[in-house]
This record gives sequence, C-alpha cells and structure tokens, in this order.
Amino acid sequence: MPTTPAPAKDRSAVRTLLRLWPYVRPVRARLFTAAAIAVIASCTGLVIPLVLKWMVDGPVADRDPGGVWLGALYLLLLGIAEALLFGLRRWLVARPLSHVEAEMRAGLYRHLQRLPVAFHDRWASGQLLSRATTDLMLLRMFLAFPLTFLLVNGVTILVGVAIMLLQDWVLGLVVLGPAIPVVVMCVIFENRYARVARRAQDQVGDLTTVVEESVLGIRVVKGFGRHRSQARAFHELSSTLRGTELHKARLLATIWAVIVTLPELAIGAALVLGTVRVADGELSAGTLVAFLSTALALRWPVDSIGFLLAMSQEAATATERYFEVMDAEPEDDGVPVGRAPAPASASTSASTSTSASASASASASAVPVSAPAPVAEDPPSAPATSGRYASPPEGGLRFHGVTFRYPDAEPGSPPVLDRVDLHIRPGESMALVGTTGSGKTTLTALVPRLHEVTSGWITLDGEDITAMPREELRTKVAVAFEEPTLFSASVGENVLMGAGDGADDGDLERALAVARAEFVHALPQGTRTQVGEQGLSLSGGQRQRLALARAVVGRPRFLVLDDPLSALDVHTEAAVEAALRRVLADTTALIVAHRPSTVLLADRVALLSGGRITAVGTHHELLRTHAEYARLMSGDQETDRR
Ligand SMILES: Nc1ncnc2c1ncn2[C@@H]1O[C@H](COP(=O)(O)OP(=O)(O)O)[C@@H](O)[C@H]1O
Ligand SMILES: [Mg+2]
Repeated sequence: MPTTPAPAKDRSAVRTLLRLWPYVRPVRARLFTAAAIAVIASCTGLVIPLVLKWMVDGPVADRDPGGVWLGALYLLLLGIAEALLFGLRRWLVARPLSHVEAEMRAGLYRHLQRLPVAFHDRWASGQLLSRATTDLMLLRMFLAFPLTFLLVNGVTILVGVAIMLLQDWVLGLVVLGPAIPVVVMCVIFENRYARVARRAQDQVGDLTTVVEESVLGIRVVKGFGRHRSQARAFHELSSTLRGTELHKARLLATIWAVIVTLPELAIGAALVLGTVRVADGELSAGTLVAFLSTALALRWPVDSIGFLLAMSQEAATATERYFEVMDAEPEDDGVPVGRAPAPASASTSASTSTSASASASASASAVPVSAPAPVAEDPPSAPATSGRYASPPEGGLRFHGVTFRYPDAEPGSPPVLDRVDLHIRPGESMALVGTTGSGKTTLTALVPRLHEVTSGWITLDGEDITAMPREELRTKVAVAFEEPTLFSASVGENVLMGAGDGADDGDLERALAVARAEFVHALPQGTRTQVGEQGLSLSGGQRQRLALARAVVGRPRFLVLDDPLSALDVHTEAAVEAALRRVLADTTALIVAHRPSTVLLADRVALLSGGRITAVGTHHELLRTHAEYARLMSGDQETDRR
C-alpha cells in the first residue's frame, strides 16, 4: 500500500503559511480592507468603556437624567457601528476566499494530472483526496477567520492595554501580570499542537483511503465475506483518529483553561484593589468602571487566542500537506534536462558527437573521422546521450537496450527489463508473450512514457520518444490497458477520449465496429448512455471492448495493447480479431497476448523472459524451435495467465 512521505521535522508555521501568498495575492486588497475594518470595529468596542466613564463621573454623579439618556444613545450608536462594520468585513471576505480555495483546488488537480505514474504508485489516493478537500477547507477557514482575527485581536489587546495603563497604571500592571506565563504556555502549546494536528490530518487521509478502497472493491469485500474485517480495519483507523482528535481537544482545553483563568484572576485582583482605592478616594468611580469594562472587553480577544492559534496550526499543517503534493516534480513537457532535443536537422549535427558504438555500422558515413573518444565502455548511458541519433531513421517502434527498474524497487534488485532490444517494423504487429510478472505490462507502459526508461532508449519511426513533446507522443501512440478504466461519462465520450478534437460519429462507429462493441446500440440511450464509476454497470468483456475502441478510434500510427482480449468469450474474441486484423494492417502494433488465438493475430511473436527478449519469430517457428514458448502456449499454462 502506498503511503505518505514523512513530513519534514524542521518547520515553522509562519514560513509555511507564507507560501499561501501567491494564491492570496489576487484578493489582497479586499482581504486587507476587511482586516482594517475589523480592527476599526474592534477598537470601536473599546470606546464604550470611555463613554461609561464619562457617564459615571458626569451625569450619573451629577444626577442628570438628560446626560444619562445621551450617554445611552452614544452606547447604542457605538454598538450598531461595531455590528455593521463586522458584517461588512464578513461580506468582503466571503467571495474572494472561496475564489482562493477554488484556485488552489484547481491547481492541485492540474498538478495531479501532470504528475508521473510513479508518483501515483507511491501515494495513497485517500491522502490526495483529503488534501483536495479537508485541507483546502481548513485553509479557507484560516484565511477567513484566524488570520484576520489574530491581527485584530492583537491590535485590540494592545490598544486596550494602553487604555488601561492610561486610566491607571497600577491596576494596569496587575492585569498584565499573567501575560508572561500565558505567552510561555502558548509557545509550548503551539509546538505540541502542530505535531498532533499533522497526525490527525494524515489519519484522515488514511481513513479516506480505506473508505475509497472498500467502495471500489465492494464486490471483493462482499464476495469474500470480508465486510467484517473491512469494518474492523475502518473501526481501528477511526478510533485512532478519534484518539488523536481527543488529544487535540485535551491540549486545547489545557491552553484554554490557562488563558481564561489567569486573566480572570488578575481582573478579580484589580477589582479588589480598585475598590479599595476608590474608597480611599485615590481613584474616581468612573475610572474604575472604565478600567474594568475595558478589561472585560478584552476577555474575548484574549480567550480566543487559544483556538485561533490552534486553527493556524492546522492551517499550517494543511499548507504543508498541500505543498508536499505541489512540490512533487511533474512530468516535463518533453525533453528531459541534459538531453538534446532532436528536431529533424539535429539528427545530423548530433551525430558529430557520436561515439563509434553499436550504431556505427549502420551509419558509417555519418560518423566523422574525428569523432571524440569513444565511450563504448559505458553501454547503458552512452547511447542514451550520444549514439542514438547516429543511426539513420528507421521505421517502426524500436527498443534499444532498454533497461528498466521501478523507482521504488529495492536498490540492487535485478531490473524488471534488462537491455531489451526489439524492433517492430512499420505496419507490423508484434505479440509479446511471457509468464506472469515477466514485465510485459511494464514494457508496454514505457512506450507512452508512463514510466521513464532507466537506460537505453525507444524510437518511433527513428525518433527518440524523449525528444518529442509528450502530447505528440501520446497522439501517435494509443494504448489499452489490462484494466479497462471507464470514466463517469457517456459511452461515446469514453471512446472518443482516444481521439483528437476533430473526431465525429463516423469515427466512433468505426471504432465500435472494430472492437465489436455494437452492444452499445442496445443500451438504453445508445452511445449516449452514461456508464457508472469505472463503468461498473458493464461486464468485463464489454469494458475491454470499449477500451479497445478508445485505443483505435484516433487511428493511431502505433498501437500498444496490454492483453486486450482476455475477458472476451471465444466467439467475440474471434470477431474482434478479424476486425483488429484490418486495423493492424496499417498500424504498427505491440500486443501483449496469452492465448495462441491472440498471438496468431500478430505477424511475429517476441518472448519476454528473465527481463530479456529471448526469442523473436512467427508463432509456428517458435512453437517448433523454442521449448519455453511451446510450454507457455500449451493449455496447462492457462492457470498462469497474468
Ligand atoms: N508500480 C510498480 N512498482 C514496483 N514494481 C512493480 C510495479 N508494477 C509492477 N512491478 C513489478 O514488476 C514486475 C513485472 O510486472 P508486470 O510488468 O506487471 O508483469 P506482467 O504484465 O508481465 O505480468 C513484477 O515483478 C511486478 O511485481
Ligand atoms: Mg501484465
């Protein structure tokens, strides 16, 4: 099961959050305006105690009812102003922030499409799903709320403290007393909370993976009566997550207790001290009222700091998780760094730097006498950088000393493919045969560059596939995989996915005919019938035929089929074969096959064994001359298929 790479240890929440800036930039004006409005609104609240002081020391002391009414009116107006300003802020941020979230999600999706297959092999899909959903939601909430309010509350606290100190600095210092222990506690809390938050968010990803797998694999789960063990696995993960969430809640409760209790005690002490001083006549009653109501007005900004910090930590974790995916290297658009592109004219200029290696015989005239020192001692990489353009353009699909090892394979393990040389001539169809796990699927995946060769190179009509843009490569080569994946779309859309934009209904019909997929016309809405997630409403053979239609619909020059007929009954297979033979007549094809009947479709057969091509010839030749091939093709190998 693919897992997630461990997060980097050395992290700073602020530095992490700063990476959001490019996404926030377009809406910065509104966000800053909203923050400024919130600061003003919050400070408006701080004027209320000053009005109270004026009322207590003025109209109340003078027993002047008119003055009291006036004061009450001021208070009412201030309250309304504060409420209106906060409402305005909310209205200002809602739209731009949902824009930020949508942009980030779109960016993630785009990036996921461009990441190489090797990345997706490594990452659990649930981890990617949870990043695209939960984490981005956390980020939006952070931008809407904690980000602004950390600022607003910070300013409010500073202004409030200044007002209190100005009212009476002795009482002010009493109230400020707990500030130091509270700050220390906050720092400790931040660090702990960051770790737990990360764990919780990763566990959400794992949980998503389990849900996704059991939904997609519902047939296996039910068929093998595994629902109990699946439920147990889910239950274990979800109780782990619950434990982590409770841990978070405990941390939050602790910091909250400290943040609420200490200032409360300080306010109590200030109340006692203040009352004594008012009794002694050192302080006016109005000042004490103003002081205490300022202190009380600051309670919310102080209390909320705990969970604002918690939300910020979660947002930092979400950002980190988001960028873990975004930082993964996407597929380049064509030419890897350090390799020369090969426009038509470059093939001759490149040959000036060639070595006199294997290709020399084929291109003696192209190799200059003053060729640089030969590098023939280094066969795997030397042709990859120099010798490949020396050979004259040759048609068809050709593997040149292709070695491949999966990126996550044990270092030192034997490569899956070991210096494979294979030439499929233009217009020829070649069957690829080998035992289970011999690397047939792997070999086919190298042609559309779903994986990159470890060494060696592959040419299409003489042109190195790494030298052409991926788009071009993938329009030249069409593939059908063992697992025929259909998307939630209509049958027609699924098939036409394999063609360029210009494809029409005629192409669709032709492709359906080749793949013997006429069954679609019997579907309720014909080719417009929606097929469900992964096309589950169709049979395996039906899905395979649609996948095959998708492969042939664009009339590709090169066709790579990974066991395209395995799920078909004998009669359908024969019919598909007859139709395929017509398509294959003008296409260069590599077809992974298991049954003699599929092999007979092809002009020649290549046997893949031990990572190498050990025999190439016609089916009948190999059957006679090659014991391993004969054994593989005989009926008792049927159980060993795939
Ligand atoms: N994504 C992968 N990562 C690592 N190893 C893989 C991966 N896919 C296949 N393999 C390994 O590569 C070998 C060849 O697999 P494959 O090409 O699928 O064989 P075949 O199609 O001939 O049955 C197997 O040993 C398999 O375990
Ligand atoms: Mg396979």
